[in-house]
Amino acid sequence: MGRGTRAESATANASPAGPSSPPPAPPVIAIDGPSASGKGTVASRVAAALGFHYLESGALYRLVALASLREHVRPEEEERLAGLAAGLRAEFSGDRVLLDGEDVSDALRSEHCGNLASAIARLAAVRAALLGRQRAFRRPPGLVADGRDMGTVVFPDACLKVFLTASVPVRAERRYKQLKDKGIRASLAALSRDLEERDARDTARSAAPLRPAPDAILLDSSDLTIEEVVQRVLGLYRQRVAEGTGGAV
Ligand code: DC
Repeated sequence: MGRGTRAESATANASPAGPSSPPPAPPVIAIDGPSASGKGTVASRVAAALGFHYLESGALYRLVALASLREHVRPEEEERLAGLAAGLRAEFSGDRVLLDGEDVSDALRSEHCGNLASAIARLAAVRAALLGRQRAFRRPPGLVADGRDMGTVVFPDACLKVFLTASVPVRAERRYKQLKDKGIRASLAALSRDLEERDARDTARSAAPLRPAPDAILLDSSDLTIEEVVQRVLGLYRQRVAEGTGGAV
């Protein structure tokens, strides 16, 4: 969360439907991958470079997790959690996220909130409740969306799908550095264990599991800098545009 251009109250694909051919939907670049693969940073930079909107879908799951803590709803209470997801009063303002008008950006980034979000994200009713909200971010001139199921479920017609991975040690090291830079103490061993557990849970669930779409391009960022990954994604998108498969801009 917290980077790039975002819009919260958009209306999905709003267009004056003409009698014959409605204008094509704005292009979407979907970037999926496991925790700490760098997808958030990459997605927001790609969005900024193209002047596109940016959706960090994980922030929505984290918001539901935070709301559940505040409302004392347990992770197994699927219907109540779906109700919270449907009624989230969230606002994205620059790099800050507000819940019920309160800035919760820092609370959202905690490992506890991420782990709880992963547990809640298993629930089909919660995922269904967040679907329309995610699709509403698709507005001209285009959208870069990151998460776990952007290319498989939320935007299956994305013009470019990237599945970004990196080895567990590399991801744990990145997360460790991120937390350290924010002055948060962490243990590398505990972070590795958490990442593996979270990957296993996100991959094994039956509702929209973490997996590459059949037409996704796999990109292993273990030996690449963030900037190199950004340039590769931009290169792939420009190639699509040149081939006429980059969607309408
Ligand atoms: O991307 P993140 O680490 O902030 O996401 C937190 C959790 O939310 C993640 O472990 C799984 C869930 N999630 C999901 O199931 N689908 C998404 N599109 C995004 C996140």
